[in-house]
Amino acid sequence: MLIKVPLKATLFGEHAVVYGKPAIAFTLPLHILVEAMDVHEQKIVVEFNNVLLPIRKIEFNREDNLFSKTEVDNDVAKRFVSYIATAIGLCEDEVKPGRRRGFIMYLKSPVPTGVGLGTSAAVSVATTTLCLSTYLSTTEIEKSLIAKLSWRTEQIVQGVASPMDTYTITFGGIRYIDPATPKAEPLPTPTKMNLIVGYTPKKSTTAVLVSNVKKLLKSSISASKIVDAIGSIVEEARSSILQGDAERIGILMNLNHGLLDSLGVVSLEHHTIVNTLRGAGALGAKTSGAGGGGAFIALARDEEHANILKRVAEALGATIVATGIESTGVEVVEKGEM
Ligand code: PMV
Repeated sequence: MLIKVPLKATLFGEHAVVYGKPAIAFTLPLHILVEAMDVHEQKIVVEFNNVLLPIRKIEFNREDNLFSKTEVDNDVAKRFVSYIATAIGLCEDEVKPGRRRGFIMYLKSPVPTGVGLGTSAAVSVATTTLCLSTYLSTTEIEKSLIAKLSWRTEQIVQGVASPMDTYTITFGGIRYIDPATPKAEPLPTPTKMNLIVGYTPKKSTTAVLVSNVKKLLKSSISASKIVDAIGSIVEEARSSILQGDAERIGILMNLNHGLLDSLGVVSLEHHTIVNTLRGAGALGAKTSGAGGGGAFIALARDEEHANILKRVAEALGATIVATGIESTGVEVVEKGEM
Protein backbone atom coordinates (compact mmCIF):
# COMPACT_ATOMS: atom_id res chain seq x y z
CA MET A 1 0.00 0.00 0.00
CA LEU A 2 1.26 3.49 -0.81
CA ILE A 3 -0.01 6.55 1.03
CA LYS A 4 0.64 10.08 -0.18
CA VAL A 5 0.25 12.93 2.30
CA PRO A 6 0.75 16.61 1.52
CA LEU A 7 2.77 18.86 3.83
CA LYS A 8 1.26 22.17 4.87
CA ALA A 9 1.93 25.80 5.74
CA THR A 10 -0.07 28.11 7.97
CA LEU A 11 -1.53 31.18 6.28
CA PHE A 12 -3.09 32.79 9.37
CA GLY A 13 -3.70 32.14 13.06
CA GLU A 14 -0.84 29.98 14.38
CA HIS A 15 -0.42 30.08 18.18
CA ALA A 16 -3.84 31.78 18.63
CA VAL A 17 -5.39 28.50 17.42
CA VAL A 18 -4.01 26.84 20.57
CA TYR A 19 -6.30 29.24 22.53
CA GLY A 20 -9.42 28.32 20.58
CA LYS A 21 -9.20 30.92 17.79
CA PRO A 22 -9.68 29.77 14.19
CA ALA A 23 -6.76 29.46 11.77
CA ILE A 24 -6.26 29.16 8.02
CA ALA A 25 -3.74 26.68 6.59
CA PHE A 26 -3.11 25.14 3.18
CA THR A 27 -1.52 22.03 1.73
CA LEU A 28 1.60 22.13 -0.43
CA PRO A 29 2.51 20.30 -3.64
CA LEU A 30 5.09 18.49 -1.53
CA HIS A 31 4.40 15.04 -0.10
CA ILE A 32 5.45 12.48 2.44
CA LEU A 33 5.18 9.02 0.92
CA VAL A 34 4.60 5.99 3.06
CA GLU A 35 4.98 2.56 1.55
CA ALA A 36 3.69 -0.04 3.95
CA MET A 37 2.55 -3.58 4.54
CA ASP A 38 0.89 -5.18 7.55
CA VAL A 39 2.35 -8.28 9.20
CA HIS A 40 1.08 -10.71 11.86
CA GLU A 41 4.09 -10.27 14.13
CA GLN A 42 3.36 -7.38 16.53
CA LYS A 43 6.22 -5.13 15.55
CA ILE A 44 6.56 -1.76 13.87
CA VAL A 45 9.56 -1.42 11.60
CA VAL A 46 10.14 2.03 10.13
CA GLU A 47 12.73 2.85 7.51
CA PHE A 48 13.42 6.52 6.78
CA ASN A 49 14.90 8.22 3.76
CA ASN A 50 17.89 10.23 4.92
CA VAL A 51 16.28 13.66 4.33
CA LEU A 52 13.73 13.09 7.06
CA LEU A 53 16.12 11.80 9.71
CA PRO A 54 19.83 10.97 9.94
CA ILE A 55 18.99 7.33 10.64
CA ARG A 56 17.87 4.50 8.41
CA LYS A 57 15.81 2.08 10.40
CA ILE A 58 14.11 1.67 13.77
CA GLU A 59 12.14 -1.26 15.15
CA PHE A 60 9.54 -1.27 17.92
CA ASN A 61 7.99 -4.31 19.57
CA ARG A 62 4.29 -3.71 20.30
CA GLU A 63 4.02 -6.58 22.80
CA ASP A 64 6.55 -5.21 25.28
CA ASN A 65 6.67 -1.57 24.09
CA LEU A 66 10.43 -1.82 23.56
CA PHE A 67 12.69 -0.58 20.82
CA SER A 68 14.96 -3.21 19.39
CA LYS A 69 17.48 -3.76 16.61
CA THR A 70 17.91 -0.02 16.06
CA GLU A 71 20.76 0.72 13.72
CA VAL A 72 21.31 4.08 15.40
CA ASP A 73 19.83 5.17 18.70
CA ASN A 74 18.10 8.44 17.90
CA ASP A 75 15.54 10.29 20.06
CA VAL A 76 13.85 12.00 17.11
CA ALA A 77 13.36 8.64 15.40
CA LYS A 78 11.88 7.23 18.62
CA ARG A 79 9.52 10.19 18.78
CA PHE A 80 8.44 9.47 15.21
CA VAL A 81 7.76 5.87 16.11
CA SER A 82 5.71 7.04 19.10
CA TYR A 83 3.44 8.96 16.65
CA ILE A 84 3.18 5.80 14.57
CA ALA A 85 2.53 3.40 17.49
CA THR A 86 0.00 5.80 19.06
CA ALA A 87 -1.86 6.29 15.76
CA ILE A 88 -2.06 2.53 15.17
CA GLY A 89 -3.22 1.87 18.75
CA LEU A 90 -5.97 4.53 18.54
CA CYS A 91 -7.12 3.25 15.16
CA GLU A 92 -7.31 -0.38 16.33
CA ASP A 93 -9.18 0.62 19.52
CA GLU A 94 -11.67 2.52 17.34
CA VAL A 95 -12.34 -0.03 14.60
CA LYS A 96 -11.15 -3.44 15.91
CA PRO A 97 -10.88 -3.31 19.72
CA GLY A 98 -8.51 -5.99 21.00
CA ARG A 99 -6.87 -6.60 17.60
CA ARG A 100 -3.13 -5.94 17.21
CA ARG A 101 -1.10 -6.22 14.03
CA GLY A 102 2.40 -5.24 12.98
CA PHE A 103 3.47 -2.86 10.23
CA ILE A 104 6.55 -2.43 8.10
CA MET A 105 6.79 1.10 6.74
CA TYR A 106 9.14 3.05 4.51
CA LEU A 107 8.83 6.81 5.03
CA LYS A 108 10.09 9.20 2.41
CA SER A 109 10.03 12.96 2.96
CA PRO A 110 11.25 15.84 0.78
CA VAL A 111 12.09 17.98 3.87
CA PRO A 112 13.68 17.37 7.26
CA THR A 113 11.45 17.04 10.29
CA GLY A 114 10.65 19.99 12.56
CA VAL A 115 10.81 22.89 10.10
CA GLY A 116 7.14 23.84 10.56
CA LEU A 117 5.71 22.16 7.47
CA GLY A 118 3.70 19.53 9.31
CA THR A 119 5.89 16.43 8.97
CA SER A 120 4.76 14.93 12.28
CA ALA A 121 1.09 15.58 11.46
CA ALA A 122 1.68 14.01 8.03
CA VAL A 123 3.14 10.90 9.67
CA SER A 124 0.14 10.69 12.03
CA VAL A 125 -2.31 11.10 9.14
CA ALA A 126 -0.45 8.58 6.96
CA THR A 127 -0.31 5.99 9.74
CA THR A 128 -3.98 6.43 10.65
CA THR A 129 -4.91 6.05 6.95
CA LEU A 130 -2.71 2.97 6.66
CA CYS A 131 -4.26 1.33 9.72
CA LEU A 132 -7.85 2.17 8.74
CA SER A 133 -7.20 0.86 5.21
CA THR A 134 -5.86 -2.39 6.71
CA TYR A 135 -9.02 -3.07 8.73
CA LEU A 136 -11.76 -1.37 6.66
CA SER A 137 -12.76 -1.14 3.02
CA THR A 138 -12.14 2.17 1.20
CA THR A 139 -15.85 3.05 1.23
CA GLU A 140 -15.99 2.64 5.02
CA ILE A 141 -13.19 5.13 5.67
CA GLU A 142 -14.35 8.68 6.32
CA LYS A 143 -11.85 11.51 6.21
CA SER A 144 -13.38 12.98 9.35
CA LEU A 145 -12.34 9.80 11.21
CA ILE A 146 -8.76 10.05 9.85
CA ALA A 147 -8.59 13.69 10.97
CA LYS A 148 -10.05 12.97 14.42
CA LEU A 149 -7.72 10.04 15.20
CA SER A 150 -4.64 11.83 13.83
CA TRP A 151 -5.37 14.92 15.94
CA ARG A 152 -5.80 12.71 19.02
CA THR A 153 -2.43 11.10 18.19
CA GLU A 154 -0.74 14.52 18.15
CA GLN A 155 -2.40 15.50 21.43
CA ILE A 156 -1.20 12.30 23.13
CA VAL A 157 2.40 12.50 21.84
CA GLN A 158 2.87 16.28 22.12
CA GLY A 159 0.67 17.10 25.11
CA VAL A 160 -0.80 20.16 23.36
CA ALA A 161 -1.78 20.27 19.70
CA SER A 162 -4.45 22.14 17.79
CA PRO A 163 -6.37 20.30 15.04
CA MET A 164 -4.93 22.70 12.42
CA ASP A 165 -2.20 20.51 10.89
CA THR A 166 -3.95 17.15 10.98
CA TYR A 167 -7.28 18.47 9.64
CA THR A 168 -5.65 20.52 6.86
CA ILE A 169 -3.44 17.64 5.73
CA THR A 170 -6.31 15.14 5.81
CA PHE A 171 -8.70 17.21 3.71
CA GLY A 172 -6.29 19.30 1.57
CA GLY A 173 -6.56 22.74 -0.06
CA ILE A 174 -6.96 26.02 1.81
CA ARG A 175 -8.87 25.30 5.00
CA TYR A 176 -10.45 27.45 7.71
CA ILE A 177 -9.98 25.45 10.88
CA ASP A 178 -12.32 26.04 13.79
CA PRO A 179 -10.76 24.16 16.73
CA ALA A 180 -13.97 24.35 18.77
CA THR A 181 -16.00 22.09 16.48
CA PRO A 182 -13.43 21.01 15.10
CA LYS A 183 -14.18 21.69 11.45
CA ALA A 184 -12.09 22.25 8.34
CA GLU A 185 -14.06 24.45 5.97
CA PRO A 186 -12.69 24.66 2.40
CA LEU A 187 -11.97 28.22 1.22
CA PRO A 188 -12.26 28.23 -2.56
CA THR A 189 -10.62 31.36 -3.91
CA PRO A 190 -11.76 32.83 -7.26
CA THR A 191 -8.22 33.87 -8.23
CA LYS A 192 -4.97 31.88 -8.05
CA MET A 193 -2.92 32.76 -4.95
CA ASN A 194 0.76 32.96 -5.84
CA LEU A 195 2.18 31.82 -2.53
CA ILE A 196 5.79 30.85 -2.03
CA VAL A 197 6.82 28.70 0.90
CA GLY A 198 10.31 28.26 2.33
CA TYR A 199 12.16 27.55 5.53
CA THR A 200 15.29 28.34 7.48
CA PRO A 201 16.72 26.11 10.22
CA LYS A 202 14.45 26.06 13.27
CA LYS A 203 16.19 26.94 16.53
CA SER A 204 13.51 25.89 19.05
CA THR A 205 10.97 23.11 19.08
CA THR A 206 7.26 23.82 18.67
CA ALA A 207 6.67 22.64 22.26
CA VAL A 208 9.15 25.22 23.65
CA LEU A 209 7.71 28.03 21.50
CA VAL A 210 4.14 27.18 22.50
CA SER A 211 5.16 27.15 26.16
CA ASN A 212 7.02 30.51 25.84
CA VAL A 213 3.91 32.08 24.31
CA LYS A 214 1.82 30.65 27.15
CA LYS A 215 4.12 32.29 29.73
CA LEU A 216 3.98 35.61 27.88
CA LEU A 217 0.19 35.55 27.67
CA LYS A 218 -0.04 34.92 31.41
CA SER A 219 2.31 37.82 32.14
CA SER A 220 -0.09 40.62 31.14
CA ILE A 221 -3.72 41.22 30.20
CA SER A 222 -2.56 43.27 27.21
CA ALA A 223 -0.53 40.32 25.88
CA SER A 224 -3.63 38.16 25.87
CA LYS A 225 -5.30 40.74 23.58
CA ILE A 226 -2.82 39.72 20.84
CA VAL A 227 -4.61 36.38 20.59
CA ASP A 228 -7.94 38.19 20.07
CA ALA A 229 -6.37 40.41 17.40
CA ILE A 230 -5.03 37.35 15.54
CA GLY A 231 -8.51 35.78 15.72
CA SER A 232 -9.98 38.90 14.12
CA ILE A 233 -7.32 38.85 11.35
CA VAL A 234 -8.29 35.24 10.58
CA GLU A 235 -11.98 36.17 10.19
CA GLU A 236 -11.13 39.06 7.84
CA ALA A 237 -8.70 36.85 5.93
CA ARG A 238 -11.42 34.21 5.46
CA SER A 239 -13.67 36.65 3.60
CA SER A 240 -10.71 38.17 1.68
CA ILE A 241 -9.74 34.70 0.40
CA LEU A 242 -13.32 33.89 -0.62
CA GLN A 243 -13.44 37.23 -2.50
CA GLY A 244 -9.97 36.73 -4.04
CA ASP A 245 -8.79 40.08 -2.63
CA ALA A 246 -5.00 39.49 -2.86
CA GLU A 247 -4.06 43.02 -1.72
CA ARG A 248 -6.05 42.65 1.50
CA ILE A 249 -4.76 39.10 2.10
CA GLY A 250 -1.22 40.50 1.87
CA ILE A 251 -1.95 43.32 4.34
CA LEU A 252 -3.43 40.80 6.77
CA MET A 253 -0.38 38.51 6.41
CA ASN A 254 1.85 41.46 7.35
CA LEU A 255 -0.35 42.31 10.34
CA ASN A 256 -0.33 38.66 11.47
CA HIS A 257 3.46 38.56 11.19
CA GLY A 258 3.73 41.69 13.35
CA LEU A 259 1.64 40.03 16.05
CA LEU A 260 3.73 36.84 15.90
CA ASP A 261 6.74 39.10 16.40
CA SER A 262 5.03 40.61 19.47
CA LEU A 263 4.61 37.06 20.77
CA GLY A 264 8.39 36.65 20.46
CA VAL A 265 8.47 33.83 17.91
CA VAL A 266 10.02 35.57 14.88
CA SER A 267 13.71 34.78 14.33
CA LEU A 268 16.34 37.30 13.16
CA GLU A 269 16.65 35.51 9.80
CA HIS A 270 12.91 35.74 9.29
CA HIS A 271 12.98 39.49 10.06
CA THR A 272 15.46 39.94 7.25
CA ILE A 273 13.76 37.59 4.80
CA VAL A 274 10.24 38.92 5.40
CA ASN A 275 11.32 42.58 5.16
CA THR A 276 13.43 41.94 2.04
CA LEU A 277 10.58 40.09 0.33
CA ARG A 278 8.24 42.98 1.10
CA GLY A 279 10.88 45.34 -0.32
CA ALA A 280 10.89 43.15 -3.45
CA GLY A 281 7.15 43.76 -3.85
CA ALA A 282 5.56 40.86 -1.95
CA LEU A 283 1.93 41.69 -1.16
CA GLY A 284 2.50 40.09 2.22
CA ALA A 285 5.10 37.92 3.98
CA LYS A 286 5.13 36.19 7.33
CA THR A 287 6.55 33.51 9.55
CA SER A 288 4.39 30.38 9.18
CA GLY A 289 3.89 27.91 12.02
CA ALA A 290 5.41 27.92 15.47
CA GLY A 291 8.36 30.21 14.55
CA GLY A 292 11.88 30.32 15.99
CA GLY A 293 12.98 30.14 12.34
CA GLY A 294 11.31 27.37 10.38
CA ALA A 295 8.72 28.02 7.70
CA PHE A 296 7.75 31.34 6.13
CA ILE A 297 5.39 32.31 3.33
CA ALA A 298 5.06 35.23 0.94
CA LEU A 299 2.31 36.30 -1.46
CA ALA A 300 3.52 37.32 -4.92
CA ARG A 301 1.61 39.40 -7.50
CA ASP A 302 1.82 36.70 -10.20
CA GLU A 303 3.82 33.61 -11.19
CA GLU A 304 6.73 35.57 -12.62
CA HIS A 305 6.92 37.67 -9.46
CA ALA A 306 6.81 34.46 -7.38
CA ASN A 307 9.94 33.26 -9.19
CA ILE A 308 11.69 36.56 -8.41
CA LEU A 309 10.73 36.31 -4.72
CA LYS A 310 11.95 32.70 -4.70
CA ARG A 311 15.40 33.80 -5.92
CA VAL A 312 15.51 36.69 -3.40
CA ALA A 313 14.77 34.34 -0.48
CA GLU A 314 17.28 31.77 -1.73
CA ALA A 315 19.95 34.47 -1.95
CA LEU A 316 19.29 35.12 1.77
CA GLY A 317 19.99 31.46 2.57
CA ALA A 318 16.42 30.14 2.72
CA THR A 319 15.27 26.90 1.11
CA ILE A 320 12.15 27.36 -1.02
CA VAL A 321 10.08 24.20 -1.09
CA ALA A 322 6.90 25.14 -2.91
CA THR A 323 5.14 27.73 -4.97
CA GLY A 324 1.40 27.25 -5.07
CA ILE A 325 -1.22 25.18 -3.31
CA GLU A 326 -2.12 21.46 -3.44
CA SER A 327 -5.83 20.83 -3.45
CA THR A 328 -5.84 17.14 -2.47
CA GLY A 329 -5.41 15.80 1.06
CA VAL A 330 -4.23 12.35 2.11
CA GLU A 331 -4.64 9.65 -0.56
CA VAL A 332 -4.07 5.93 -0.87
CA VAL A 333 -2.52 5.49 -4.31
CA GLU A 334 -1.58 2.49 -6.38
CA LYS A 335 2.15 2.33 -7.10
CA GLY A 336 1.60 2.71 -10.83
CA GLU A 337 0.00 6.13 -10.26
CA MET A 338 3.16 7.63 -8.78
O1 PMV B 1 5.45 24.96 13.18
P1 PMV B 1 4.45 23.88 13.40
O2 PMV B 1 4.05 23.19 12.14
O3 PMV B 1 4.86 22.94 14.49
O4 PMV B 1 3.08 24.60 13.83
C1 PMV B 1 2.70 24.84 15.15
C2 PMV B 1 1.47 25.67 15.16
C3 PMV B 1 1.04 26.13 16.55
O5 PMV B 1 -0.15 26.89 16.36
C4 PMV B 1 2.09 27.02 17.17
C5 PMV B 1 0.76 24.95 17.47
C6 PMV B 1 -0.50 24.15 17.12
O6 PMV B 1 -0.66 23.05 17.71
O7 PMV B 1 -1.34 24.60 16.33
